Amino acid sequence: MTVSLEQLRRCHVAVDLGAARTRVYIKGLGLVVDEPSAAAINTRSGSLIAVGELAEKMTGRTPDYIRVVRPVSGGSVIDIEMAQRMLRHLLGEKLRRQLRRKPRLRAAACTPHDSDPLAQRATIETLVGLGARRVELVDTLLAAAVGCDLPVEQPVGSMIMVCGAATTQIAVLSLGSIVTAVRIPIGGDAIDHAVIQHLRQQHELMLPSQSVRPLQLALSGNGLTSHGPAMTEIHGRDVVTGLARSVQVDTAAVRRAIHTPLTAVLDGLGKVLRHCPPDLVADLADCGIMMVGGSALLPGLDQMLRDATGMPVHIAERPDVCAVLGLGAMLDGMVEPMVLNPLAA
Ligand SMILES: Nc1ncnc2c1ncn2[C@@H]1O[C@H](COP(=O)(O)OP(=O)(O)OP(=O)(O)O)[C@@H](O)[C@H]1O
Ligand SMILES: [Mg+2]
Repeated sequence: MTVSLEQLRRCHVAVDLGAARTRVYIKGLGLVVDEPSAAAINTRSGSLIAVGELAEKMTGRTPDYIRVVRPVSGGSVIDIEMAQRMLRHLLGEKLRRQLRRKPRLRAAACTPHDSDPLAQRATIETLVGLGARRVELVDTLLAAAVGCDLPVEQPVGSMIMVCGAATTQIAVLSLGSIVTAVRIPIGGDAIDHAVIQHLRQQHELMLPSQSVRPLQLALSGNGLTSHGPAMTEIHGRDVVTGLARSVQVDTAAVRRAIHTPLTAVLDGLGKVLRHCPPDLVADLADCGIMMVGGSALLPGLDQMLRDATGMPVHIAERPDVCAVLGLGAMLDGMVEPMVLNPLAA
């Protein structure tokens, strides 16, 4: 996956197909789509009923002939046709206008670090099916680092942690490239799952799928931090009787449940640091870790990393959209490549 800034400058559209959200940036227009990667289909006729925000709202509330599907899973497109239909609807007239103006439309897309050729092929095919003549793939870690203004082209080390829904990716970058990186299959979804499992096992309560996020907020928005109330009331369905029930939940126990999947993230962080040359680690001790991705907003996650590593930890200004905005900045030519002048003999 070696794509030059020159090639990216010729692209017109930047796409980030995430497990949770789909984001599209169009040159000259900016970020035009930031919606959940979901589509609701009528299983009798096969027609599309809703996409994005509306489809997400339907999750768990549909009659049996309507199904909400997620064409992106684990960071790669698993249903190319559905991903195309979803994107076509999310973009609507904007896509048609772009195609009319630029029949030879070029697109750029983020791809998770270390993604396999099959996953890369699926992303390319999705965009080619939409009318793109050429698709350039860029590592999410690089795009996100550019999107949060890290000095990627400089000969200094910068550390980035992309906390997505399906994966967490951590890298040390220097001179415009990735020095060491890991991708861990743990993200916001695993955290939500840990909360669901905890309530099921400890309180025999089944949570409506949509209320996990409110639950984290119910911990008075304190996520992994210990501020806020010690107990909180949660509504759900009894696992045994099937009746609606509400229980008083110990917030500290929920926090402990969330901690379990996060130990894998801390292991990954340690691995990256161990494989990093000492000079770069010394740089990192000064400038710290930059957190991006939607799950970076989980309150207390930054403090947990600070405690575990002893390094400064920052959260990007708009962590959820950093990757697509970084890709957009490359399309707009805002990124200057470092000029490596070979010394005259
Ligand atoms: N305020 C918040 N607090 C905690 N978690 C949040 C918050 N906002 C979003 N999230 C979580 O962030 C995740 C979505 O992040 P993001 O939009 O970066 O995912 P994605 O790019 O679609 O996923 P991936 O990159 O893994 O394919 C979801 O799991 C969501 O639960
Ligand atoms: Mg993402």
